[in-house]
Amino acid sequence: MTPKPNNRKTSEKTTAIEIRGLGKVFHTDLGTKVRALQNIDLTVHSGEFLTILGATGCGKSTFLNLIAGLDAPDEGSIRLSDGLQFGENIGYVFQHYTLFPWRTVVKNVGFAQQMRGVSKRARKRKTSELLSRVGLAGFENAYPHELSGGMRQRAAIAQALAMKPKLLLMDEPFGAVDDATRGDLQNMITELWQENDMTIVFVTHNIDEAILLGSRILVLSERPGRIAGEFEIDLSRPRDRMNSEFTDIFMEIRRSLSGQLD
Ligand SMILES: Nc1ncnc2c1ncn2[C@@H]1O[C@H](COP(=O)(O)OP(=O)(O)OP(=O)(O)O)[C@@H](O)[C@H]1O
Ligand SMILES: [Mg+2]
Repeated sequence: MTPKPNNRKTSEKTTAIEIRGLGKVFHTDLGTKVRALQNIDLTVHSGEFLTILGATGCGKSTFLNLIAGLDAPDEGSIRLSDGLQFGENIGYVFQHYTLFPWRTVVKNVGFAQQMRGVSKRARKRKTSELLSRVGLAGFENAYPHELSGGMRQRAAIAQALAMKPKLLLMDEPFGAVDDATRGDLQNMITELWQENDMTIVFVTHNIDEAILLGSRILVLSERPGRIAGEFEIDLSRPRDRMNSEFTDIFMEIRRSLSGQLD
């Protein structure tokens, strides 16, 4: 078997997202201000698998929403490389399930393609290919409430992949599943990243997961989220938690978070 690449394409270092001096302040219903993000400078390279680690409330979801253009920055700028656009080629697996409860799996996954005018026949072929890729063959006609949490996450991933994203944003997508399912989903997303030409920005509060998946890890401070650390991960894939380099990185990241995730 040929070894799978690790930091595929990042050697070319073309820019997918350029973020400068980014800040976000929310005004709450009670009239107070909450500063969610402060002074973030970051260049995301095309083809990289960037994982973002941070404690709850530090601004991770806000950060992804700003990248997707679902919310606007109060300070600084986000520039996406030419051709990247939400609704076109940016997939988003949200923190909370976003399948339409009244649509079957196949109709949920096919919806984005339908909106883009993909013919019924092409949609059917593509959807069935995707569902078998994420391990949901046989559940095409199930409704979301008939699926387990892990299966719903698989369907949400298929839904995001249906638009052939060049950029895939994932917000703690495996947070609500058991360890075995989480392991399966982590393997699946690594393979999908290796098979496809896409950049992934993946948010988690699990250090282990950040190291297992990322070609680079960005550590955010507590709110307001600022960049507290950055780690290039050169370990070969599939990664082994028992490897001493893995545990060294784990300890180093843990120190940089000064107990925030404990
Ligand atoms: N629409 C909003 N209005 C007011 N405050 C908001 C809004 N969205 C987020 N916030 C605040 O911004 C901060 C960051 O929220 P965010 O959801 O980005 O955190 P997070 O890092 O994703 O947390 P978690 O790990 O729990 O998902 C929080 O204090 C939150 O209360
Ligand atoms: Mg969040």
